[in-house]
Amino acid sequence: MVELRERKLSGSESRDEPKAVFRGDEEGLDDLFDLAEPQPKYKALLEAGGIICPAEGFVVAASRAAVDEVLRHPESYTSRDLVQLGNVRPLIPLSVDPPEHLKYRKILDPLFAPKKMDAIEDDVAARVNHFIDAFVDRGSCNFTEELAVLFPSAVFLGLMGLPWEELDTLLRLKDGIMRPPGDPAEQMRIREQIGQEIYVYFDAILDERHKKPEDDILTEFLRAEVDGEKLSREEILDICFLFLIAGLDTVTDSLTLFFAHLSRHPEHRRQIVADPSIIPRAVEELLRWETPVAGTARAATGDSVVAGCPITPGSIVFVSIGAANVDPEVFGDPFDVRFDREDNRHLAFGGGVHRCLGSHLARRELRIALREWHRRIPDYELKPGIELHYPPGLRSVENLELIWSTS
Ligand code: HEM
Repeated sequence: MVELRERKLSGSESRDEPKAVFRGDEEGLDDLFDLAEPQPKYKALLEAGGIICPAEGFVVAASRAAVDEVLRHPESYTSRDLVQLGNVRPLIPLSVDPPEHLKYRKILDPLFAPKKMDAIEDDVAARVNHFIDAFVDRGSCNFTEELAVLFPSAVFLGLMGLPWEELDTLLRLKDGIMRPPGDPAEQMRIREQIGQEIYVYFDAILDERHKKPEDDILTEFLRAEVDGEKLSREEILDICFLFLIAGLDTVTDSLTLFFAHLSRHPEHRRQIVADPSIIPRAVEELLRWETPVAGTARAATGDSVVAGCPITPGSIVFVSIGAANVDPEVFGDPFDVRFDREDNRHLAFGGGVHRCLGSHLARRELRIALREWHRRIPDYELKPGIELHYPPGLRSVENLELIWSTS
């Protein structure tokens, strides 16, 4: 799930020293994590004391206490320079430490606040129904390809004021960064090339919005000010770049995991159909149980101790959000999936200053997709004979084929 590589930064943030880089793809931790059914491994990690050190300079924080300690102390555990996916400057705000980080969240938080999300509910529902329309009478679909991949990007088009015709471009740019084909060298080459395309693509749209402002987030970025200062063009591009990485596949992957779960647990599916008002709680419980972003990484800035484990400067700390989400110190019956769970303080959106900016948007998308799907297709199952495939990277189901009766 995690791979650490030595690589030099390029662009305006060049450094002399090579940095350890968190890539988020397979290798190194295969014994510790299982993408298809991770919960037993999480349990083992928690039983091992909640923090382990599998290699020199590499620590895995698993208990809720250890995870909170790391995520809530950005001065000791930085996210700077850890994600390099074709970007030539740090991603904003993920790769920026406090206090500078706060400036960006002050601008961005209001744009993704619950009230803003209320205003797009109908648009989001129309977009998910657009995709369901295409297959509802067929009685089958490849859920991953025909809905989960397309829907979050379609919602982004709306937010950015882009027409439907841009969907293929957005998907191509996103996939070039998130799922480039080939060996690691080829992948890096593709990411660098697509990364440049992303900067050019958004730069051109920002030029248009500058000339002719619209009612969309790109125009809001151009207008936004903190302490009388506007965002520079580079800063806006670095935010847009992160949105492609953070805001699309995360929702896609959650949808595939949720529907794989519901298709294999008809008792849970029936609860949603019988009482759609439980959907918000069902979404929280599925986020906790499936934890689509199973973990993140930080680099230790100095000597420190987490849960009794000494950590040396420069060590990479992998934060197992998935394990923390089944920690019995925090959750009663953590290995049961219960849609009536109260006080579900899961960490699926992370914690501390870098807690997910898009959590309200993601929740809306997930709730609306569950609501509209079950309204229109209440009784469905996994296509017989399908063996689900969980590709490397973020947890997701690649080939979720579902069937239902149309009579
Ligand atoms: C179910 C879907 C999603 C999940 C599970 C998820 C999860 C996460 C997690 C775990 C983090 C913290 C990463 C870290 O601390 O290293 C994060 C950060 C972030 N997410 Fe999400 N995310 C989702 C959807 C979205 C969406 C739709 C957006 C679109 C705006 C978004 C934008 C961001 C941004 C910008 C950050 C960085 C925040 C910062 O550094 O201050 N995410 N997300």
